[in-house]
Amino acid sequence: MERTTLLQHIRRQEKINPGATGEFTSLMAEIMVASKIISLEVNSAGIGENILGLTGKINVQGEEVQKLDDFSDITFTKIIGQSGTVCAITSEEKEDAYIIPAEDNPGKYIFMMDPLDGSSNIDVNVNIGTIFSIYRKKSAGDEVTDEDLFQRGDEQVAAGYIVYGSSTIFVYTSGQGVHGFTLDPSLGEFFLSHPDLKIPEQGSTYSANEGNWGIWDETQKNLVSFLKEENPSSGRPYKLRYIGSLVADFHRTLLKGGLFMYPKDKKSPEGKLRFSFEAAPLAFIVEHAGGKASTGDTRILDITPKGIHDRLPLYIGSQKDVEMAESHLAATVKKGGWFKWLSG
Ligand code: AHG
Ligand code: MN
Ligand code: MN
Repeated sequence: MERTTLLQHIRRQEKINPGATGEFTSLMAEIMVASKIISLEVNSAGIGENILGLTGKINVQGEEVQKLDDFSDITFTKIIGQSGTVCAITSEEKEDAYIIPAEDNPGKYIFMMDPLDGSSNIDVNVNIGTIFSIYRKKSAGDEVTDEDLFQRGDEQVAAGYIVYGSSTIFVYTSGQGVHGFTLDPSLGEFFLSHPDLKIPEQGSTYSANEGNWGIWDETQKNLVSFLKEENPSSGRPYKLRYIGSLVADFHRTLLKGGLFMYPKDKKSPEGKLRFSFEAAPLAFIVEHAGGKASTGDTRILDITPKGIHDRLPLYIGSQKDVEMAESHLAATVKKGGWFKWLSG
């Protein structure tokens, strides 16, 4: 059986892209290298002490290898920062943007990342991952400005994630379909395993932290109660699936369909998840797979952030499920929308 590697796939897509200079391919190749290092750390470390807190090991930069969030942040920053393809890196783990110094030969892309998503699951050996987003530098001249760091979601050049779990899977889109690659650890190579992923138009699961019921608003409670009602003709009740790692909950939703929600609540009135590092990249992926992503009333990709760490509510998944959620959250049952959804 012909096995396509991740790099072969990216090069093929580069060939059909007239303006390609190879810089994007180089950047993706470096992301792949960093993801293999994290995958090795997560898997060889197994569970328990050595991926929690300080490991006592000294890494290649002479720093004490800290907990996996920091280890991932340092690994991606060093490798991508020295790749000559980006001029700035923003990270969930960094207060400010890291501007690539002139001596490291800055490139034309901006790289944004959640270096390790699902930190609460690290020590129980549950899937965790890295989420990334790539924009093109927009402003004239060498300086990196707010115009470069705060771009509308649909100005992304590419987005992707890596799930470190029973197998390590790399999913990305550069606007020409969504494609998944599985790491063959014996070869250290990612091979195409999920070509041209499309999310089912409607699913049968919802994914939310119901532990927050007490701090949700009424429309959110009504929505989840609706999903749990006995109504076989409209596919309800939906099953609840919630891992607590966005990247893993999203990966399941992308493959099986359904609705992932992290609504705003009294504890997080803006929402908990970050625009640049979680919502925008996953929204870019889900839309290229035929799904939808919104704050409950605004398309994620229409949003331009004001700050590196902006947070927002997130409803993401199958088109019909997100639309149903939006019509509920509008608190008025739009006749066509709601009954249209019900009749399937
Ligand atoms: P991170 O580990 O990068 O901070 O992200 C954690 C996020 C996301 O992965 C997950 O969906 C959500 O936090 C879980 O939040 P709750 O524990 O509040 O459900
Ligand atoms: Mn995260
Ligand atoms: Mn994180």
